[in-house]
Amino acid sequence: MSNVPTITLNDQVAIPQLGFGVWQVGNDEVVSAVGKALEVGYRHIDTAAAYQNESGVGRAIKESGIARDELFITTKLWNSDHAAADARRAIEQSLENLGLDHLDLYLIHWPAVQKYGNLYIEAWDALQGFKEEGLTRSIGVSNFSAEHLEAINGAVPSVDQIEMHPTFSQAAFRATLAERGIVPEAWSPLGQAKDLNSPVIGQIAQDLGKSNAQVIIRWHLQIGNIVIPKSVTPERIAQNFDVFDFELSDEQLNLINSLDSGNRIGADPATATF
Ligand code: A2P
Repeated sequence: MSNVPTITLNDQVAIPQLGFGVWQVGNDEVVSAVGKALEVGYRHIDTAAAYQNESGVGRAIKESGIARDELFITTKLWNSDHAAADARRAIEQSLENLGLDHLDLYLIHWPAVQKYGNLYIEAWDALQGFKEEGLTRSIGVSNFSAEHLEAINGAVPSVDQIEMHPTFSQAAFRATLAERGIVPEAWSPLGQAKDLNSPVIGQIAQDLGKSNAQVIIRWHLQIGNIVIPKSVTPERIAQNFDVFDFELSDEQLNLINSLDSGNRIGADPATATF
């Protein structure tokens, strides 16, 4: 049995707090990566239509033989599909690619305001319908700022998946999400490997006899983030899951909190033009 804690979302759906991310993993390579992740015990997989690897993820799920109700599968609606009819076609395509009859979590990938204006509000209405129909158990958003959360109507998103890692830890926005009952989910949780080079992380890892990646993943878990580290390297996939036999002290958490530079690595939702 998995020892991964779950977080109960605002719609009572339970999500495993540690999952496996597959951004920038090709559709062939993703089969072995997800296969390895499922073998070592991950049950939560995070993909997106835009990653173009949903069918590989689906193949790995099928080949694993793991029961559907033991898995937690997230995918995301791409920016060009925010209009209601496009959103429906998109979720149906994602389900077909994944070989599933329902998702566990469906996210609006970006608000994409620069390119598509306020169409993300129509997308949010569509997602609420998909949840009512049972096409997905839970619905949320990604890369939404406070203004985008303000603009959407009706049910509150269960999660907001945003860039978060020690050098961009978003403490103030995490507090905003907490006030709204939205759970923060971290993309690029290792800072796309860049934050692994921090001497502060290195010292804590040395003190604990853990790897730098394990320390960062543990920090995410202890500050309440859902975390989905990506790796295509079997040993790292296993190592990143082996984070439940130690704890960071408050002092160690604060040292990592102090690494925040306010600088993103990825795109800024306020200026992204895709
Ligand atoms: P790789 O996939 O080649 O194993 P993020 O999740 O923040 O986007 O970070 C992903 C990056 O971090 C990838 O380059 C991945 O490399 C690397 N990575 C993932 N886990 C580890 C680890 N345990 N040790 C070192 N690098 C890692």
